[in-house]
Amino acid sequence: MKKQVKNNVYWVGYLDWDLQKFHGDDFTIHHGSSQNAYLVQEEKTVLIDTVWAPHHFEFIENLKSEIDLKSIDYIIVNHGENDHSGSLPALMKEIPDTPIYCTANAVKSLEGQYGKLGWNFHVVHTGDTLDIGNGKKFTFVEMAMLHWPDSMAEFLSGDNILFSMDAFGQHYAVGEMFADLADQEVLWSEAMRYYVNIVSPFAPMVTKKVKDLKALNLPIEMIAPSHGAIWRKDPMKIVDAYADWAGNYKEDMVTVVYGTMWHGTEKIAHAIADEIHRQSPSTLVKVYNVDHTEKDDIMNDVFRSKAIAVGSPTILNGVLATMAGFLYYYKSLKPKAKKAAVFGCYGWSGEGNKVLRQMLTDAKCEVVDAEVKSSWNPEAGDFDKVPELVTELLK
Ligand code: FEO
Repeated sequence: MKKQVKNNVYWVGYLDWDLQKFHGDDFTIHHGSSQNAYLVQEEKTVLIDTVWAPHHFEFIENLKSEIDLKSIDYIIVNHGENDHSGSLPALMKEIPDTPIYCTANAVKSLEGQYGKLGWNFHVVHTGDTLDIGNGKKFTFVEMAMLHWPDSMAEFLSGDNILFSMDAFGQHYAVGEMFADLADQEVLWSEAMRYYVNIVSPFAPMVTKKVKDLKALNLPIEMIAPSHGAIWRKDPMKIVDAYADWAGNYKEDMVTVVYGTMWHGTEKIAHAIADEIHRQSPSTLVKVYNVDHTEKDDIMNDVFRSKAIAVGSPTILNGVLATMAGFLYYYKSLKPKAKKAAVFGCYGWSGEGNKVLRQMLTDAKCEVVDAEVKSSWNPEAGDFDKVPELVTELLK
């Protein structure tokens, strides 16, 4: 069933209550998600995006229950990724000549995934418009690298809705549809988790695009992203949050991330957390065993933190594979500079701290000199080094 967003604009997406993983198994979903598609029924009928391929049958049947598919005048494809374009091949079998409005890169992406099927593409650029009658029109805005080269948004005049694609979205199934009706704690934590894990590598583009968007002076009354809730009350709040997150965002918070084999490195991690509390009672401290928490959750708190402490025992002349994997992921998100400290236990050769130091330095961290390196189990003498490490980390 279509749900009214505003006037003749309707949500026709898929509410994915049971989604557990996204991007294959790479991204963990905690509160479901949605693939938002929209139907605009003015003098012209416009479909904005589709849903993920596994839901194509339900998506098309729902559309058919609302309209004759042949009445769709235009399709707007904001982004070629399969969660939004996956139902397009099945839909285009029914209405093969319908014009598809998208960026040049989206043509590459769609033809790359589904083949050259002779679809009726209309390539658009920033500032191009599409008149849909009743005094309303779409103005397209290219959103390259937010988060793919093909990403695009459009503003619908009259209703003053910005269809923003992935930007400003959340992996959060919101049956209430609107952000102001959603659970605010989940909404904002999922909006940030989405930004951190999917958008943050492109922070310089976010900063520029937010500036460009504000310079357009569009009377935005609603922001309709392609995942999660629609921002209806104070819609620029999420735009400002993106500007904030893309800047030098830091909270008074430290995250301690460790891996452990026989609980020695874990003891040091806990001692560091205790010492942070002792030296700076107001600082929020999070402690994660890298093997027990999803990397996207740890990353969210690492992003928020002004400093991190990272520990691993030495194994096979290096560090635990899960810690190496986490730090690879951390670096791939192109984080801003952050203070870091290293710690770990070793039995024989003891290269762990050195490897951690190098990986963190490669990820633009400023690694403090003080470290805790404990032979076998940490003892009093090892814990004595914790205060200096924490003092340097908090400096
Ligand atoms: Fe929600 Fe980039 O797809």
